[in-house]
Amino acid sequence: MPLSTANPNKTNAWKELQAHFEEIKNIHIKDLFAENPQRADNLSVKWDDFYIDFSKNRITEETLNILLRLAKELDLADAIERYFSGDLINQTEERAVLHTALRSKEGDEVFVNGKNIIPEVFEVKNKIEQFTNTVVSGEKKGYTGKQFTDIVNIGIGGSDLGPAMVTEALSFYKNHLNTHFVSNVDGDHVQEILKKVNPETTLFVIVSKTFTTQETLSNATTIKKWFLERASEKDIAKHFVAVSTNLEKIAAFGISSENVFPMWDWVGGRFSLWSAVGLSISLAIGFENFNDFLKGAHKMDVHFKTSDFKENIPVLAGLLTIWYNNFFNAESEAIIPYTQYLNRFAAYLQQGIMESNGKSIDRNGERVEYETGTIIWGEPGTNSQHAFFQLIHQGTKLIPADFIGYVNSLHGDKDHHNKLMANFFAQTEALLNGKTEKQALSELDEKGLPQEKIQKLLPFKIFEGNKPTTTFLIDRLTPESLGKLIAFYEHKIFVQGIIWNIFSYDQWGVELGKQLANTILTDIESDHIANHDASTSNLIEYFKKS
Ligand code: F6P
Repeated sequence: MPLSTANPNKTNAWKELQAHFEEIKNIHIKDLFAENPQRADNLSVKWDDFYIDFSKNRITEETLNILLRLAKELDLADAIERYFSGDLINQTEERAVLHTALRSKEGDEVFVNGKNIIPEVFEVKNKIEQFTNTVVSGEKKGYTGKQFTDIVNIGIGGSDLGPAMVTEALSFYKNHLNTHFVSNVDGDHVQEILKKVNPETTLFVIVSKTFTTQETLSNATTIKKWFLERASEKDIAKHFVAVSTNLEKIAAFGISSENVFPMWDWVGGRFSLWSAVGLSISLAIGFENFNDFLKGAHKMDVHFKTSDFKENIPVLAGLLTIWYNNFFNAESEAIIPYTQYLNRFAAYLQQGIMESNGKSIDRNGERVEYETGTIIWGEPGTNSQHAFFQLIHQGTKLIPADFIGYVNSLHGDKDHHNKLMANFFAQTEALLNGKTEKQALSELDEKGLPQEKIQKLLPFKIFEGNKPTTTFLIDRLTPESLGKLIAFYEHKIFVQGIIWNIFSYDQWGVELGKQLANTILTDIESDHIANHDASTSNLIEYFKKS
């Protein structure tokens, strides 16, 4: 059965939201706190080692009730059921969307086209475990008999961003293996990595769901050539493994079948880090930690699938995006983790969120009449405070922000952690309350400045506040809690896509540029330049002549 195709703007709840928006659009969050002493408690959720505070948002309990009615009118509960049970909800590609099956429990049953896929999932998981153990222990050796010291992951998009983000995020848990990531077709990228590694002690993991991606195949070919200048053809089996659905292309590349980690078309690239695409994560932190990471995601799956929507973190967060995006006309959302370990988190989520929900055709094949996909950006705090926070505090745009912080630091430096978290709390408080004219005036007065100067400076010193934030306070950054956090965002993406009546699991939008790049490559490498617009032709000419 296909997903419902009702458009959100035709529902009763949408009309109610429009009327409700008119009523509350000018209300300041701090007045909502003043009116209701229970607000912080009522609008927060404690779940496992997560405490999520939604109360600093421009919402009332009535807002949430109407948003929940919207979810009901659009059959969100039914869609969740279909998502987990393997319905072909990626309808434009006629595929199921089952990254959740990758973290399910042994013995669970999930059927795709009548076949239970869980035994296969565990077969590959066991292969990842065995392989990881032999590399980490040093049992598996390179072509000169030395143990491996370095892993190079060759992939792009979902075959790079997830593993790269997670190995950095969990570097506290890392073993002796150094991990490197080659993604860009820019030859300087691969050369910089090759400068750092020794062919005798390096394992290359080629990751490509399709095994047709230009960037990955070019980098893999360059690396293979570099390797063969130092070793022989028979040594490839010891140093190259591949993760893909395309077994034929892997064989054509020269990788033997025992070095292949299969994946499946029901795993989308941007959700694939839970599969063998996460092999470099497992190698870097050990299989046990990798498995804990999967277990965390599974716990979030159960929460999403079974919790009442009023307490359901991905449902509430997904609905909040609709509220800001479609009623406040907010165009972007910031994600600000207060841990340096999550340095690449926003970049990772950019693909997850923007490739999924950057769509303008609804599930009826019609152009949508409302805004969809938010722009995602962010950097860790406190660095970002000294970079772009000015715009969030005093700019003209409304930017709802997720603040992600941890109760405990990993290295246990209390002094640093208290300072970090003081900033974390201070920012959301400042964004909420702002600074009134009266407060700004009294601060200037205290400085003893002349009245004329005070009046000139005053407008610049006022902060409106009323900037929405959601705070995630998590006990500690562990493989398990990171698994939960990533799965939370995956399900938030799902909720948004269902409400917007779009298909979140295809990515046709990246194809056109790829096609044109192939044509232009021929132009660059031949005497003839095909028909382009005048600007593009000039630029290609200029490049070729120089
Ligand atoms: O750029 C589009 C895309 O298809 C992503 O969705 C995907 O993660 C990436 O390219 C890499 O694809 P592959 O794993 O097939 O090389």
